[in-house]
Amino acid sequence: MRQKIVAGNWKMNLDLNQGKALLLEILDSNINKDTLTIIAPPAIHLNSFNQMLSHTSIALAAQNCHQQDSGAYTGELSVGMLKSVGVEYVIIGHSERREYFMEDSLSLSFKVNNVIKHGLRPIYCCGETLTQRQEGEHFRTISNQIEQGLFQLNEMELLNCIVAYEPVWAIGTGETASPEQAQEVHNFIRKTIAKQYGDMVADNISILYGGSVKPANAKELFTCPDIDGGLIGGAALNAESFVAIGDSF
Ligand code: PGA
Repeated sequence: MRQKIVAGNWKMNLDLNQGKALLLEILDSNINKDTLTIIAPPAIHLNSFNQMLSHTSIALAAQNCHQQDSGAYTGELSVGMLKSVGVEYVIIGHSERREYFMEDSLSLSFKVNNVIKHGLRPIYCCGETLTQRQEGEHFRTISNQIEQGLFQLNEMELLNCIVAYEPVWAIGTGETASPEQAQEVHNFIRKTIAKQYGDMVADNISILYGGSVKPANAKELFTCPDIDGGLIGGAALNAESFVAIGDSF
């Protein structure tokens, strides 16, 4: 059975005090224990959050990492550093990183490799822009992103990855892909993986949907057969809505 996952991507929001207050609210709520809950706060919060989350079922994710283990890379964080403060998952290739930091799937493949090498799990993001969808290029865009970013891995390594499909036009816009649109792409991603690695691998990889997920639409998305949970942005900044999304399976 594939793991059901709800991951909150806080992006560059909330200072440490605000972040701790939100985390405490989430910890005080009854989070769904059948679902893996992951929180990706700004990197500067990770160390304190690690202490706050010991003895809880919530896992910590980083929003990015560097592909090298150490060295003269001013401003960057290595996977080893993230691991040393309790990080278990790393979001790789979010569309905001692809757009604003010029990250492409080939360079992201090096980050994926480094995350895997350190025994952490990548949450690898893919998704098309509005223009790519309107031009009928979305399937090709997504298969390229998946192949270039992940297909250097062997089967066991790929099984440690989580994929997140996030149509760029649905991120932070209030515009959600319909369950049919999302399911169609999730199924396509699973088939793309199956072609390369076989059904066993494809059937065991969790594929999350991201893009304006909220309590009002989570259930119909999460009941689609190939959607195994969500990567949540805006709605993860409110304890009540984040917890409600986790209850939507
Ligand atoms: P959103 O963001 O839920 O605010 O659309 C999702 C994401 O960027 O991961």
